[in-house]
Amino acid sequence: MKLLIAFLFLLSLLLTKQPVEPGMACPLGTFAISLIIDVAEYESLSVEQVLDKLCNYLPSEMSDPCNKFVDKYAKMIIEELKTDDHPDSIAQKIGLCAMDRQCTLFPQKQRIYFQKNSKSRYNKSEQELKSVWDKILGELKKIYEKHDPIVDLDGDHFSDSKKLRGSYWRGKDCDDLSRSTFPGKVPNSGDKLFDSNCNGVHGRDENKINYEDRFCIGTQPMGTMVIGDSIGAHFHIPVQFFQADQLSNGILKDNLIDLIEMEGDWPQKSWVTGFDTTPNDLCEGTVNSIYLKMLERNRCNHRNYQNIAVNGMSSPNVYDLLQNSLTESLQKESYPVFGLFQLFGDDICLSMNITQLPTPQQFRDNVVKSLHQLDSVLAPGSVIFVMSLMDGTRPFKILHDKPHPLGHGITYADFYEYMKCNEISFCPLWLTTNETERAYAEKLALKLSQQLYDIVENEKFVNFETRFVDTPQKEIEEVFIANGWDLLKMYEPVGGFHPTQLTNYWLADLTWKKINSLYPDLIPPINPHNQEIIDKFGDQGGF
Ligand SMILES: *[C@@H]1O[C@H](CO)[C@@H](O)[C@H](O)[C@H]1NC(C)=O
Ligand SMILES: *[C@@H]1O[C@H](CO)[C@@H](O)[C@H](O)[C@H]1NC(C)=O
Ligand SMILES: *[C@@H]1O[C@H](CO)[C@@H](O)[C@H](O)[C@H]1NC(C)=O
Repeated sequence: MKLLIAFLFLLSLLLTKQPVEPGMACPLGTFAISLIIDVAEYESLSVEQVLDKLCNYLPSEMSDPCNKFVDKYAKMIIEELKTDDHPDSIAQKIGLCAMDRQCTLFPQKQRIYFQKNSKSRYNKSEQELKSVWDKILGELKKIYEKHDPIVDLDGDHFSDSKKLRGSYWRGKDCDDLSRSTFPGKVPNSGDKLFDSNCNGVHGRDENKINYEDRFCIGTQPMGTMVIGDSIGAHFHIPVQFFQADQLSNGILKDNLIDLIEMEGDWPQKSWVTGFDTTPNDLCEGTVNSIYLKMLERNRCNHRNYQNIAVNGMSSPNVYDLLQNSLTESLQKESYPVFGLFQLFGDDICLSMNITQLPTPQQFRDNVVKSLHQLDSVLAPGSVIFVMSLMDGTRPFKILHDKPHPLGHGITYADFYEYMKCNEISFCPLWLTTNETERAYAEKLALKLSQQLYDIVENEKFVNFETRFVDTPQKEIEEVFIANGWDLLKMYEPVGGFHPTQLTNYWLADLTWKKINSLYPDLIPPINPHNQEIIDKFGDQGGF
């Protein structure tokens, strides 16, 4: 069972540069119609009844645009459904999809009388419909843009609220009114009076020795950082959003806005900076991360993590991202960083066709420029591990003939092609039935990884060393096979591309092991005072 509106809405927000584009009307409407049919079947209701309650499934913030959708389209949908139960053709007939649009998702055999070139019976009002639709999209867009600025009163990039790029992304600020108090900072006067780096270690012992001096000084604290894409941010759409029974339970009503505010991401459970180990049905699986390993080695690293990852991040945009997210004066007051630079594939994925792909030289120039920007802000003694691109051909190979959660016999190959046709695919050149394109994209990805290797070998930076890490994707597959787990569990069921929580667990584990075995000198030592810190400061203020 599918939950269309949320799905498309999220995709529109997350996958396109502009949060909500007019081109979304067709796929969004198609999913909406299919949802309406499914809910009617599932709950044995008439279509009219489903339309009446459709908007109750959604968060109140979305009820206005939803009601507009229903008001405008209900009659037409009901009318069309008398003679046709094919969501693609209904969407086209009621004017949501351009007449010459040939993207179809649902199996052809279900079509009753749709003909590709038949003119809409509502053609007269197409202009009017378009303007209504634009208004609806405009309202959705407003919800998205209405975000308050990140709550960060003192402008130190750390926040005491979780969402909107707050403490789910970077350690919680224990004083959001002071620009000289933030996670990762080298403490002021041993944090004698207060906890200037928010790691929970502060005050003095019975001999008037500062606890920071006693437990942390000289233990090489380091902050964990990821600069990367949706995999670094942990993009994840809960599969429950697609289940009819969950829909009636209010799953969207309760969670959709939160997820939108999180940009569809779960950085608190991500593979580099994840810290939130409390179970959550919407993002199931054990959390494992580079940050948790760093924390385990040294409790003084508590809250010292920064997730600088953004969905769709590719090499041309990293420079700006770094410029906006990292302030030299603040980083220079901080401990050095143990960072991962991971652009797993958006340089490939943002291209609609092979003529748009970047050249290796362009990629290289962008990465070098970004790394120099990073070098200009980070504290000396940092280290940056540069990860190779993923093998983007694997998701298609593993999933293409498997059923997609949308049901109706739709396979991942169908789904990928539909998304590609609508120009909203996660990755048109890797998620495609066109083998030539997949192979071409993969060949380029290898060349880009080669550039990264070469940069690490040849470029020198002042404040950090770089090391190359081959992304352990093959090794993760081997773990799955050895454990008898189906490889399809490696990728998110809805989008069929991003790693699942289980894959992320192993991505963290195997990357950490790789770094340990290849570059043991760069792993900071275990703090001998860890137990004393726990005994004295408990959970150190939590997260
Ligand atoms: C559709 O458009 C054609 C040509 O503009 C017109 O003749 C026809 O009456 C219209 N159909 C409807 C249902 O408005
Ligand atoms: C590739 O995409 C660009 C931009 O969408 C378009 O202008 C160009 O014609 C496309 N090229 C091919 C070969 O399809
Ligand atoms: C596959 O992609 C290539 C390159 O974009 C294109 O030239 C070719 O026509 C495509 N093949 C099919 C069957 O669409």
